[in-house]
Amino acid sequence: MSEAIIANDRSNNIEIVRLSRNLGAEIRNLDLSHELTEDEFSIVHQAFLENEVLVFREQDIDARDQIAFGKLFGELSIHPFSPNLVDMPELIVLDNHKDNPPRLTDQWHSDETFREAPPMATILRSTITPRLGGDTMFASMSAAYEGLSDEIQRLISGLEGIFDFKPFRALFTNDLESKKRLRKIEDEHPIRTHPVVRVHPESGRKSIFVNPQFTIGIKGMKDEESRTLLTLLFDQAKVPEYQFRHHWEQNTMIIWDNRSVLHYAIHDYYPQRRRMERVTIAGDKPFGLGASYDGPYIGRPEIILSEQDAPPQDGEGPVRNFKR
Ligand SMILES: [Fe+2]
Repeated sequence: MSEAIIANDRSNNIEIVRLSRNLGAEIRNLDLSHELTEDEFSIVHQAFLENEVLVFREQDIDARDQIAFGKLFGELSIHPFSPNLVDMPELIVLDNHKDNPPRLTDQWHSDETFREAPPMATILRSTITPRLGGDTMFASMSAAYEGLSDEIQRLISGLEGIFDFKPFRALFTNDLESKKRLRKIEDEHPIRTHPVVRVHPESGRKSIFVNPQFTIGIKGMKDEESRTLLTLLFDQAKVPEYQFRHHWEQNTMIIWDNRSVLHYAIHDYYPQRRRMERVTIAGDKPFGLGASYDGPYIGRPEIILSEQDAPPQDGEGPVRNFKR
């Protein structure tokens, strides 16, 4: 793998190493078992906005450290359905094995987007990793938006996606008690809309903000119309150029920007055991192009070319341009 160091702060030695063209960077030389200094956090936060996914390897830390790290970004949120620990309700333990197959996560999604204000970020930490498989895929939907033609960008610019907690409905059975619980959750989480093109509240970047797990239609469109358009938009996450694939090793922690990134947990490790701990950071209500954004624009880092990238000099080799 080729690596390009894009920042190196001498004062604390943190390195930010990009992992793919459009998203993903590894943060090196930062021990998360200690409270971060203001400077350290500001480097991490800037790298997070630029790269959308950050990977921290060899972090021998516990849930308390993970929670403390999350709180640097903002208030933590509690999942409305997931069972959680009494003393740490912000923590979700994802422990999958032979008797507990993974469910619902092998689909492109952004966490909890059926909520009025979905989480801004998710932090996942591996405690037991399978010997084979179990990678997580990420797709930058801001890169995907930038890759659309002007015509499609224009077409989707004012649209609203319709969201529902659809896949979680399968967790409720037909008995009276379960039906009652489902009705209560339906009251708390009614079907709602979010802009199809979301403007990132901190970077100003635009992204495609629909996902096949929770988006069930487009407001004002006929079923076939929204199905066709949503398929086109969902398919953008499948474009390899917009993706970053992470192979987990034990004690790795990842934070991703839930506002502009979709993820997909590959279930190919089953029936091996894979145990993760997750916390989410509360986010704000998504807004689209119609709202005024007066913050800064933070783009993705440019690729820095080196000597070896220089085009061949005259006579060094064939030069032929195939214009499209
Ligand atoms: Fe997820």
